[in-house]
Amino acid sequence: MKGNKMQPNTIYCGDVLQLLATWPAGSVDLVFADPPFNIGYVYDKYRDDRPDEEYVEWSRDWMRACQRVLKPTGSFYIAIGDEFAADIRVIGRELGLHLRNWIIWHYTFGQNTKAKFCRAHTHIFYFVKDAERFTFNDRLLRFPSARHTEYQDLRASPLGRLPDDVWDEFPRVCGTFRERAGFHGCQMPEALLQRIVLASSNPGDLVLDPFVGSGTTAAAAKRTGRRYIGIDLSPEYAEQTRRRLAAVRDESRARPEGGVWPALHVDHLLQIYRETGVTLNNLIGNEVALRVIAGALAARSGHPYSVDEVRARFEELGRKPGFPKLPNDTPFAPRDHRTKEGKRYVRTKLLQNPRRTAKQSLRMLARGGPRPPDANTPPAEPRRRGRPRKHAGPVPASGAVREATG
Ligand SMILES: C[S@@+](CC[C@H](N)C(=O)[O-])C[C@H]1O[C@@H](n2cnc3c(N)ncnc32)[C@H](O)[C@@H]1O
Repeated sequence: MKGNKMQPNTIYCGDVLQLLATWPAGSVDLVFADPPFNIGYVYDKYRDDRPDEEYVEWSRDWMRACQRVLKPTGSFYIAIGDEFAADIRVIGRELGLHLRNWIIWHYTFGQNTKAKFCRAHTHIFYFVKDAERFTFNDRLLRFPSARHTEYQDLRASPLGRLPDDVWDEFPRVCGTFRERAGFHGCQMPEALLQRIVLASSNPGDLVLDPFVGSGTTAAAAKRTGRRYIGIDLSPEYAEQTRRRLAAVRDESRARPEGGVWPALHVDHLLQIYRETGVTLNNLIGNEVALRVIAGALAARSGHPYSVDEVRARFEELGRKPGFPKLPNDTPFAPRDHRTKEGKRYVRTKLLQNPRRTAKQSLRMLARGGPRPPDANTPPAEPRRRGRPRKHAGPVPASGAVREATG
């Protein structure tokens, strides 16, 4: 029976097409979809190696199903790898979706290759159903521009600027990061989903993730006071996501108490810091930038923080041992790296043998440092460095790494 089965704040286990077909049209404000990329990644229940044409047909089907449940004012974000990005863009046009941005999420950490340039990005399409009517909360996205951080230019907009369409403030959630939930290889960073949720929905709105995986979209939605619905084929992922969400609080109305800031407000401040791209020392002494940050934080948190409060909080955070000295550093949790079979993670020989590196350094010093390039000698063959990456999550069957998020 159509239209009677959708309960907000629920994680459903099932097939996206079957479930969405039973839900009312025009009921969702924002969809974020991070589907399997069809690159042979091993999921719990889904087989990620369909023939290309079948995968493209399936993509059209689920995109159409999401479009149907979107409100006329709704926004639709889709993350996808290089292999099928062009197809998704074309399907979006065929379905009559309007492309507002073709975002490149440039992940700044965690990838390596041996014989080609490292792939360090995922595409995120930002579509809307109606080209004129949609939610875009620009005030919740602003941060100081270089005019504030570099030149202390009082003529620059006191509101700050909007992020570019190349996002490099969100490292992938690697196995050692504190954020890692640990049960899904493709967990996306919550800060990235927070940006999307803040931009394209309002408190109380309904956010749908049809491939919820580890529950990142739902966590970002719940924390910022939106309602959520998640779908995943895997009972295991769905159950683990429910547990993850049980520990997440709606902090949209949280306010500082006795000088203690809500965790979400601290996260907003850290995110603005990352977005500036400059070091904390540069910011703390920069009244012009701090003013913009206080305004941006007030917009995101709903609480009117003063410049002095922001400076004091930065100083306090800066004294903590784990504080990112560079904006893009990410908190990590030291782990005892072991394979699933219990074998210890083996370091490369070079690192295992410090005497060898010392000897090499001495030899290099004796030569008077690294050799300057010689116009008569041909360039040396590139050295192959590193070793195959180990995966914290499931290992791709075909040997392909899901370079997007896992
Ligand atoms: C790339 S992951 C999503 C990761 C997620 N963005 C996160 O941050 O954790 C894709 C998910 O889609 C799920 N999936 C695959 N086919 C599905 C289907 N037909 N219906 C619902 N979920 C499906 C997989 O089980 C997998 O967890």
